[in-house]
Amino acid sequence: MRILGIESSCDETGLAIFDSQQGLLGHTLYSQVDTHLQYGGVVPELAARNHITKILPLLEKLLLETQCLPADITGIAYTRGPGLIGALLVGAAFAKSLALAWGIPSIGIHHMEGHLLAPMLEDPAPAFPFVALLVSGGHTMLVEVTHLGHYRILGESLDDAAGEAFDKTAKLLGLPYPGGPALAALADSGDPGRFRFPRPLTDKPNLNFSFSGLKTHTFNTILRSKPLSPELTADIASAFQEAVVDTLLIKCKLALKQTQHSRLVVAGGVGANQRLRYKLAVWQQESGLELFFPRLEFCTDNGAMIAYAGFQRFKAGFDDEATIEARARWPLDSLPDFSEG
Ligand code: KG4
Ligand code: ZN
Repeated sequence: MRILGIESSCDETGLAIFDSQQGLLGHTLYSQVDTHLQYGGVVPELAARNHITKILPLLEKLLLETQCLPADITGIAYTRGPGLIGALLVGAAFAKSLALAWGIPSIGIHHMEGHLLAPMLEDPAPAFPFVALLVSGGHTMLVEVTHLGHYRILGESLDDAAGEAFDKTAKLLGLPYPGGPALAALADSGDPGRFRFPRPLTDKPNLNFSFSGLKTHTFNTILRSKPLSPELTADIASAFQEAVVDTLLIKCKLALKQTQHSRLVVAGGVGANQRLRYKLAVWQQESGLELFFPRLEFCTDNGAMIAYAGFQRFKAGFDDEATIEARARWPLDSLPDFSEG
């Protein structure tokens, strides 16, 4: 089996080819950062138009780099949702048309299943069962994964996702889009001990998250601290990052305790955060926890995770009907179990 994966749910066009024998053959990505920079965030209509212009040249590049011919591809996986509807439709229509032209099946993949399975592309890959911390721009959730396709949501964000909180707080601090990585870079140069920000919901026994209050707390600190020197800005960024990272860590510990699992998988854009990785690594050394991350470039949106999830779903016997469908909203725990393929 040789699967072409196509990701277009937000501001990155990602394509990849996964082979059942040889693993990942190659991947290619176009990031729309320059397009959205002047607006301070993703403009959905521009994102969709940008996917249209980039998707075919990226496919040609990928086929050339991997030395694959269209005839070598046995199936196409694309992100069906959740995400920006116009952006999703570009990938879905492209994938479906290509599948029809090439006479091969296609399958729509849940974006968060893609993130969740991304660590499977690494060596060693996590064995089942495990708990997954999914931290992206749109979602923050803890998921118990007993086998492929069986995703029990243990807790999730009640308001802003962790990545969203990073992005919005970055804006408050006057940092450019994309805010998350910019805030993280600034935070790493600050003093995390100058301010102590709240760790929301960590006094509760549930596994939910809430980051919007932390964002407001940061905003109030900014107002009280004006005029902001570069040093003060870095210290506030650092206190914010520390609060998010500690909160995620506390909830991960609780999730493992409650489920009695000893494996943790961390995926999604915020999984690229170095402070989070550092604190998880310290915990791993102290506790014997088995910890898995995708490589940095597969934490954020990419085609490889979609190709891999597609490979697993095709292998289990799934494929799409002839309709073109994209879903802006799509609960992860409504996916069919792999045994139903
Ligand atoms: O998974 P992803 O690429 O897209 C979504 O599915 O949302 O995640 C993007 C999110 C953004 O909110 C971005 O600011 C955040 O991940 N992010 C980071 C870092 N790199 C990306 N947040 C904190 N630290 C980082 N190093
Ligand atoms: Zn994502």
